[in-house]
Amino acid sequence: MKNTLEYIKKNRDRYIEELFELLKIPSISADSAYKQEVLKCADKVADYLRKSGVDQVEICQTKGHPVVYGEKIIDTSFPTVLMYGHYDVQPPDPLGLWDRPPFEPYIKKTPIHPGGAIFARGSADDKGQFFMHIKAFEAMSATGELPCNIKFIIEGEEEIGSVSLGDFLTKNEEKLACDCVLVSDTHIYSLDQPTITTGLRGLSYMEIEVEGPNRDLHSGLYGGAVPNPINILCKIIAELKDENGRITVDGFYDNVEVVSDEERKEMNKLKDDPKKYKKAIGLKALEGERGYTTLERTSIRPALDCNGIWGGYTGEGAKTVIPSKAFAKISMRLVPNQTEGEVVDKFTKYIKKIAPASVKVKVKPMHGGLPYVLPVTTKEYLSAKKAMERSFNKGVLPYRSGGSIPITSLFEKILGVKVVLMGLGLDTDALHSPNEHFGLYNYFKGIETIPLFFKYYTSEDV
Ligand code: BES
Ligand code: MN
Ligand code: MN
Repeated sequence: MKNTLEYIKKNRDRYIEELFELLKIPSISADSAYKQEVLKCADKVADYLRKSGVDQVEICQTKGHPVVYGEKIIDTSFPTVLMYGHYDVQPPDPLGLWDRPPFEPYIKKTPIHPGGAIFARGSADDKGQFFMHIKAFEAMSATGELPCNIKFIIEGEEEIGSVSLGDFLTKNEEKLACDCVLVSDTHIYSLDQPTITTGLRGLSYMEIEVEGPNRDLHSGLYGGAVPNPINILCKIIAELKDENGRITVDGFYDNVEVVSDEERKEMNKLKDDPKKYKKAIGLKALEGERGYTTLERTSIRPALDCNGIWGGYTGEGAKTVIPSKAFAKISMRLVPNQTEGEVVDKFTKYIKKIAPASVKVKVKPMHGGLPYVLPVTTKEYLSAKKAMERSFNKGVLPYRSGGSIPITSLFEKILGVKVVLMGLGLDTDALHSPNEHFGLYNYFKGIETIPLFFKYYTSEDV
């Protein structure tokens, strides 16, 4: 892989410039006003795949935003790695909190990234990360050092729950046939302690609507005698967790996997310094489920959070009103053996049970996905570990992440293969937040690590 590494070094500036072009396109999947931009981004990705030497590049239509596909089959008797990523991004709001416009990428040094980081929406999640694969492929291909077949599947709906991709996998099972799936859409624990993500939590995202009076009422004329949907909704939400930080939904923990003391001990080797952790997010104290560490609370234990709440008057000044309706969006992060369907059911029943008879309550599931765990005994894990250890020149540990990538469990279910999550970001990269960024060091470390993964994965012994 010596020539590959040299090629990467030589093409460093172009590798940055090309990524900038992708980052300039506001491919916001959630907002239909950006539909054309999403298409434009798919085109650009397809273009880059072609230019990097990928064959059979196509833009595949789905019910939603298109999937970009490409492959390079050098020998059908060689193993095939399927690389997955997403070219859609989260909405950049609130715009006022960005130092510079979100779709005008620029490089700036930070204390964590003394070598500079690329600031733009999508830089770390996930354009910068899937682009590492295209550029690593280009380098391997150009130098004749590609050791196996590769397929690319880069979708445009990950940030809205990969709603069309399950269907796409089922319909294209043969075309997507592979030996493993490789994804860079997560982060390492830190630059001093590189990790391979061995777990993702599942997700169940719900919306609640509480309806009280049939119209907004004067809060003086009616106040004191009628149910207020906002008050009631707040009470419902407050009741979803008890004083020990446990979720109160009946039967919520029934299927939750019990992680052995041994594994818990092992995972807690990654130690969060609570002071640093709190300081980084501006908190005086943390809270969560009693009996578990912060690391455990955000990986092997489920969580429930209100993501948004609205209703009544929120404009300037004061308006005296009892609103007719109030709404909330609630996400639950799931862990192994919990299923979306089961959780949706239990949650809906529980909300209906605790809601007072004075209001009407609707509970609607939005989207979700299953958790995923990659055993540390697999060839996939061991190859990724070896590749990272070589490129970082440091020991690598497994790390179960709290985030979700709903499609991972479907890759396993539909294609019957393991998924390796070799993300190169950092948890400080401000994913989904203003001033999202991706370290240049991380970007090039990724481009250098990927060929090593290919090398170890295709060799006999790892
Ligand atoms: N790349 C993230 C998930 C992620 C980030 C996992 C860092 C682990 C570490 C992905 O794009 C994402 O944002 N997923 C969403 C779920 C999706 C259905 C909107 C999430 O986790 O909230
Ligand atoms: Mn992502
Ligand atoms: Mn995301």
